[in-house]
Amino acid sequence: MDKIEIEGGVRLKGEVCIGGAKNAALPLMAAAILSSGENIIKNVPGLRDVMTMGKLIAHLGCGFHFENNQALLQTKKITSADAPYDFVKTMRASVLVLGPLLARTGRAKVSLPGGCAIGARPINLHIMGLEKMGAAIVLSEGYIEAKAKRLKGAEIYFDMPTVTGTENLMMAAALADGTTILENAACEPEVVDLANALISMGAVIEGAGTSIVRIKGVNKLRPMNYTVIPDRIETATFIAASAVTNGEIRIKNSRPDNLEAVLNKMKEGGAVISEKKGKLSVKGPARLSSVDIKTMPYPGFATDMQAQFMALMSIAEGTSLITENIFENRFMHVAEMKRMGADISIEGATATVRGVKSLKGAPVMATDLRASASLILAGLAAKGTTVIDRVYHLDRGYERIEEKLRPLGAKIRRIK
Ligand code: EPU
Repeated sequence: MDKIEIEGGVRLKGEVCIGGAKNAALPLMAAAILSSGENIIKNVPGLRDVMTMGKLIAHLGCGFHFENNQALLQTKKITSADAPYDFVKTMRASVLVLGPLLARTGRAKVSLPGGCAIGARPINLHIMGLEKMGAAIVLSEGYIEAKAKRLKGAEIYFDMPTVTGTENLMMAAALADGTTILENAACEPEVVDLANALISMGAVIEGAGTSIVRIKGVNKLRPMNYTVIPDRIETATFIAASAVTNGEIRIKNSRPDNLEAVLNKMKEGGAVISEKKGKLSVKGPARLSSVDIKTMPYPGFATDMQAQFMALMSIAEGTSLITENIFENRFMHVAEMKRMGADISIEGATATVRGVKSLKGAPVMATDLRASASLILAGLAAKGTTVIDRVYHLDRGYERIEEKLRPLGAKIRRIK
């Protein structure tokens, strides 16, 4: 199992280029199933999750080829409508094939995802929506089995906004008979990217990016040739890396308009951020000041940046309150940061982070994707050597992060 070793205390300087968004690329790949032909998706990050989605789509009978951040998906034939447990257990986003498979083939059998490191993460809202659209759904032996000759447009209200739930139903509704209205839909930029890709395939969708999305079903969709938006969480992680090392870095290929909540909180903490000629410049202060955050659905502060922000607050001046409102168990990084000298206590959904002068390098364990990124940030800021174990979590969502950090001066290496 690979590990990452970091010698901390270096000020990062230079320029970094951001890749395509994982959480936009995955639903786009699933959306290819709705068409019959060759789909080209550009700016796809070379990540473990992308490969898992590619293998799953190949398992359904399609062609998948990945080269130079471009995914080719040949979807002429679907020979199976089954997404087995082996795929779903390694990546929950596999559940994104449920809506498209059902809409295209009239049938889908998808393993129920279990709980995961960050919470229970049920998919009841995906199922409720498909049932409203006329699907007959049974849960049996750990699988969701869904059938529908043709899905029908419906009015669907989500009790809480769900990102992949909104995406699954938007894809299913694109080929349904009639109009579907999704209320209290997720507004994340990745939902908008999927809507734009579907529209480029011939779908009729209005309101993506707001809480009410209207989808008028069509009979057929053509394959897409589409470029994925830049990853806002990778961008924010590099902003954090500069902020926490008193660094000075420029960030290419980002979409700061998708990052306002994070940018505001970073600025409040003392980072100086500006945009010029499409590049973001981030200057970290000698020491950050503490800032409170609460994670919220978009446009609120992203839960996917909570762990990384906590790493910053662990050495900021003062005390910060960090409240996690989306997932009930997303504080696994706290115990690891404490091993590096952080002073953090948790009560319910809120972590109280009392900033210490400095962290000390230590051997630590990554518990999930964003937790592993937070430990990299802590390691970059710490005095001494940090060795992060279980970095396979990191490889699910960050493309060669150590190779992007090294040119900025970071003393970081992967131990095979
Ligand atoms: N929820 C339900 N029922 C459902 C669906 C969701 O109760 O049927 C709850 C969840 O348990 C959670 C909340 O609704 O409390 C929001 O979850 P959501 O469904 O929005 O999460 P997701 O779609 O499973 C996506 C991202 C996550 C990101 C969350 C929140 C993808 C592939 N995954 O997950 O990304 O944290 O939205 O923004 O888009 C990551 O990249 O590290 C990651 C975990």
